[in-house]
This record gives sequence, C-alpha cells and structure tokens, in this order.
Amino acid sequence: MAFEGKIVLITGGGSGMGRLAARNLAAAGKEVAIFDINAAGLAETATGHTGIHHWVVDITDGEAVHAAVREVEDKLGPIDRLYNCAAIMPFGKLLEQKAEVMHTMMAINYGGLVHITQAVLPNMIARGKGDFISFASMAGILPTMLTGGYSATKAAVAFFTETLYHENINSGVRFACVCPPTTNTPLLDQGRETAWPKMLDQGSLLDPQDVLNAIERDLEKGKFWVFPNRDSSIGALMRRWAPGLIWKQIHKVEGF
Ligand SMILES: NC(=O)c1ccc[n+]([C@@H]2O[C@H](COP(=O)([O-])OP(=O)(O)OC[C@H]3O[C@@H](n4cnc5c(N)ncnc54)[C@H](O)[C@@H]3O)[C@@H](O)[C@H]2O)c1
Repeated sequence: MAFEGKIVLITGGGSGMGRLAARNLAAAGKEVAIFDINAAGLAETATGHTGIHHWVVDITDGEAVHAAVREVEDKLGPIDRLYNCAAIMPFGKLLEQKAEVMHTMMAINYGGLVHITQAVLPNMIARGKGDFISFASMAGILPTMLTGGYSATKAAVAFFTETLYHENINSGVRFACVCPPTTNTPLLDQGRETAWPKMLDQGSLLDPQDVLNAIERDLEKGKFWVFPNRDSSIGALMRRWAPGLIWKQIHKVEGF
C-alpha cells in the first residue's frame, strides 16, 4: 500500500467502497473515521473491526461536517488521507426526474465534496502532506441517457477536483480523481429502482476491491486521474476523440 500515514477519514463509510476501504485500512493498522447519514450502515462497517470510529454526519450540512472533522482530529490526530465517497444515484430522463431530487443529488454528490474539502484540506496543506481521494465516476466523464442528473454531479466533482489539484500542485498533498465504471455496490440498486440504462449492462460489473487497488497503484505512480480498468481508460479516450460515435451507439442500445 502506497500509504504511510495513520489517520484516515472516509465519507460514505456506511456502505460500498467506503466500507471496504475502511475495513482494509483498519486491517492494515490505520485509525479510520467514517461519516455517513446511515447510522446502521456505519455500525455495521465498524462491527468486528477495531480502529474504525464512526460519526453520523449529513455531508450536505457544512457546519456539521466542520464540527465532526474537528472531533476526528481531536480524538485521532491530523487526517493523513481522505476518501470522499458519499453519494446518491437516482436515474431518470432529465424531463422526468423531479427537480427536487436532482438538487438534492447535487447537494450531496458535489456540495458534500465542497464541505469536506474545506474542512480537511487546509490542514493537509499546512502539514505539506496527505492523500486527497475524490470519487467522481465514468458517468462524469462519459454521459449516457437516463443518467444525466447524476452525470452532471459527477462532472462537477471531476472539474472541482481537477482544479483543486492544480491550485495546490506544489503543496505536497497527493490528489486522485477516481472514475470507476459500473461497480458492484448497493449504489446500483438506486439506479435499478429508478431508470436503468441498457448501456450500463454492456460491460461487466467491476469488483469494488479493483477500484481501491487502482487508487493505490495510481497514487504511487503520481497519477491524478484513476481509471480503474481498461474499459474506463478506453471510454475516456473515446469521449475525447469520438463523442459522436459513442452517442450513436447509445441511441442504438437504448432504442430511442
Ligand atoms: N458503484 C458504482 O457503480 C460507482 C461507479 C462510479 C462511481 N461511484 C462513486 O463511488 C462512490 C462510492 O459509491 P458506492 O458505490 O460505494 O455507493 P454506496 O451507495 O454503497 O455508498 C454511498 C454511501 O453514501 C452515503 N450517503 C448518502 N447520502 C449521504 C449524506 N447526505 N451524508 C452522508 N453520507 C451519505 C450512503 O448512506 C452510503 O452509505 C460514490 O461517490 C459513487 O458515486 C460508484
């Protein structure tokens, strides 16, 4: 593991990749603080794993985020690594998704990143070290039909994180913007319960551990963009050089 620090903070640690990262890091002897809105999920992540400490925090509440980060630092010490995982993913056609749902999704997926960044990053920069790991998505690089609201939040995450990286390029902090393709976690249920695009069944589901391994691999190489598998790397290139071809394929697969 390309990580010699001790204290980790993970938002969205009550499920999926946040949970897996928390357990892996605790097993490696790190002290891991996890934030989530789901108290039961937090408790389940921590059960049987010493070294996992949990806080119920709604990432959209800036004051609560700052207060909880201060508590983590008081209790455990300065944060060496941050994973920004908290997100929701309801799908639908843009004219059919409720505006309220789309605003909430932006407040969690993007607004939450703004809060946790401003609460955690200044101290990393002051110490001249730390790992800042932001979860965007292939959906934020390569939009498809029925995922437009979610894609917009993840494009915001990607642009925010990319700019943050360049504004702090000589700070000593390592930045990673992770762009997983469809990965096997409970998040997918939210998409399936709303409007699931056929395009998302075109590739195979990635294992969450593969995403976490790719983060370690690319942090070690000093790579900012993390595309966890070959399909995601090719997808990013296709988006840049042949977007028309991709949209043609999307219309064909979705049938409209
Ligand atoms: N699973 C995928 O296919 C996939 C693909 C690309 C990117 N991602 C991204 O990876 C990250 C982790 O996703 P996952 O698949 O592990 O999802 P998940 O649903 O398993 O976990 C997300 C967690 O965020 C929490 N959360 C939601 N709203 C919150 C709020 N207001 N405050 C605090 N916590 C809140 C949820 O309770 C949940 O525990 C997300 O940012 C997601 O967008 C996932």
